[in-house]
Amino acid sequence: MSRRRILVTSALPYANGAIHLGHLVEYIQTDIWVRFQRMQVNDDGSPVEVHYVGADDTHGTPIMLRADAEGITPKQLIDRVWHEHKRDFDSFGVSFDNYYTTDSPENEALCADIYGKLKAADLIATRSVEQFYDPVKNMFLPDRYIKGECPKCGAKDQYGDSCEVCGATYAPTDLKNAYSTVSGAAPVRKASEHYFFKLSDRRCEEFLRGYTQGAAHLQPEAANKMKEWLGAPGEAKLSDWDISRDAPYFGFPIPGTGGKKFFYVWLDAPVGYFGSFLNYVKKQQVAGNPIDADAFLKPGSDTELVHFIGKDILYFHALFWPAMLEYAGYRTPSKVYAHGFLTVNGEKMSKSRGTFITAESYIAQGLNPEWLRYYYAAKLNSTMEDIDMNLDDFVARVNSDLVGKYVNIASRASNFLTKYFDGKVMPASASGGPTRSGTGSATIMSTEYENAIASAYEQREFGKATRLIMAYADQINQYFDENKPWELAKSDTARKQLHEVCSECIAAFYRLTIMLKPILPVLATQAEAFLGTPGLNWKDLSKRPTAITQYKHLMTRVDPKQITALTEANKESLKPAAPAPHSQQRHAQHQENAVEAATQPETISIDDFTKIDLRIARIANAEHVEGADKLLKLSLEVGDLGTKQVFAGIKAAYDPEQLKGRLTVMVANLAPRKMKFGMSEGMVLAASGDAPGLYLLSPDSGAQPGMRIK
Ligand code: 2FM
Ligand code: ZN
Repeated sequence: MSRRRILVTSALPYANGAIHLGHLVEYIQTDIWVRFQRMQVNDDGSPVEVHYVGADDTHGTPIMLRADAEGITPKQLIDRVWHEHKRDFDSFGVSFDNYYTTDSPENEALCADIYGKLKAADLIATRSVEQFYDPVKNMFLPDRYIKGECPKCGAKDQYGDSCEVCGATYAPTDLKNAYSTVSGAAPVRKASEHYFFKLSDRRCEEFLRGYTQGAAHLQPEAANKMKEWLGAPGEAKLSDWDISRDAPYFGFPIPGTGGKKFFYVWLDAPVGYFGSFLNYVKKQQVAGNPIDADAFLKPGSDTELVHFIGKDILYFHALFWPAMLEYAGYRTPSKVYAHGFLTVNGEKMSKSRGTFITAESYIAQGLNPEWLRYYYAAKLNSTMEDIDMNLDDFVARVNSDLVGKYVNIASRASNFLTKYFDGKVMPASASGGPTRSGTGSATIMSTEYENAIASAYEQREFGKATRLIMAYADQINQYFDENKPWELAKSDTARKQLHEVCSECIAAFYRLTIMLKPILPVLATQAEAFLGTPGLNWKDLSKRPTAITQYKHLMTRVDPKQITALTEANKESLKPAAPAPHSQQRHAQHQENAVEAATQPETISIDDFTKIDLRIARIANAEHVEGADKLLKLSLEVGDLGTKQVFAGIKAAYDPEQLKGRLTVMVANLAPRKMKFGMSEGMVLAASGDAPGLYLLSPDSGAQPGMRIK
């Protein structure tokens, strides 16, 4: 067999949000696979060459608008988020060889090259596209920034593609009374020229049929999905892909368009895999470790390109990306491995239940990242099925397998070895116990067993690998119990047997360490130090340690209280809380004739402040209230929290018509209050001074209903 050379990627996370447990399924899955490969050698004994690269996915409208809302440049935003993402990956042992950004010169040059080649191959077309345009922000609006009334059932505040009330799907242009969620303005329709990658071209279709159905590039269920998407020959189901966006857009300008058109973020994102790799190659060149980049990026070599992705982005990775590469003269992916989504306790991750858990909070709560790595490994397989993280099961599994089975072997056996035998491990003897090198009868361990574990890793059947590994750990614990070393230790004549039993256990612990190392890199390093065998690789399974050092506790148990604290910390509070004292800025009373308390500024703790659930709200409706002098009745749309009715004492300052559609700030967790005119479920914030006048707060553009204010 030739030498394996593998370039591995995980999907690039958007640079506008935190890494959470859902993301980590993929990064941990990829990392385990990569670490397993790094432990392998080729037939000639040379190490397998594996390069694992990643990057932040930095372009597009949401990032541009968010930076705008924060009053910083997109580059400042993506730089900050890059550091946060890098910190989180480091914390969870995700061992990228290079973690980069798609906003890089390497990526820009690659995009230009790919685009140029596709154009030369007559696979780029232009045509005019009519879209919604925000006349206040002077920008075209992606569908997600348009809302309006459902054309079918008339439900208000529905997104531009589908109605959450009746389930209808439609084009944003079908919405009635549409508004831009960026400025609140009514969008206008405007045409502009767009660039398309001609995916419908006969060449692309033929290539994709061969690519998706042959050579096992995809999992069987993914290949079937592709069959559906491609349709039968002659059905012409593939449409051309719109790869351009108009200025203003944070991205790479399309060459030859005078800076007016930009590559759509989904074009430059996968190219970012190569951009990161080329950046890595440059750094390695400087460090004196040259890599043959062309062998990985150009067709005709036996290198492998392996992408790990979520099943939601299969379309991009199994259709657009390979077709683009094929006709731009680059190599196509060897494997696209899609995984399912994460559910927590059987449900979608939820902010109100506290199961939308960020990587940062997991670490901040003092949980061990290797617990999660192990738990995910135990649940993962090679299919696209969703995986569930049951929090009780998480505690039970980690405590039972890692602490109760694996670590337990070292802790029990080391005691006797240190006390009676100066830590020396006996060489394997003919009468040996349950290690492969011994001939003891009771062992399940064998070359075949090891190979089954290795093959489970190779095929991403990590659940199977952990089951096989733990079955062996069970057997060793049983062997220890049956031989009762604590009894043997009482008799001088049983010294040899005691030594043998404990040595066998330590030899088995050594083997378990190697087999768990891709999943538990930190624990394995500590175990290696204890065993006096640093840098273990898979081939070291045929060896045995000779002496142990003093045993130090290797892993603590998960305390269920830590899990409660974790979900509490991730819960978005919906509980009523007392309003905080105020200074310059006051709330608009949500009850008529309420009297403001004297407002001497006093200090509060951050905890006091965070009790107030401040949210961006869109005033979906505003109206006069019959019989009320000062009140307006507001209907506020608050994202996940739904719609809230608030009576606000702002009648003197605002005409209800002016308010409709605008964004403001509300206290969302104020205890609901029954008023003469109905329930008031919060309050909106306004500023006022000594002079008459009341001024409702407005967020900067880009803020969305439901966003928290912190
Ligand atoms: O779905 C996502 O989160 C994208 N940011 C993934 C991009 S993967 C690759 F194409 F860059
Ligand atoms: Zn509807």
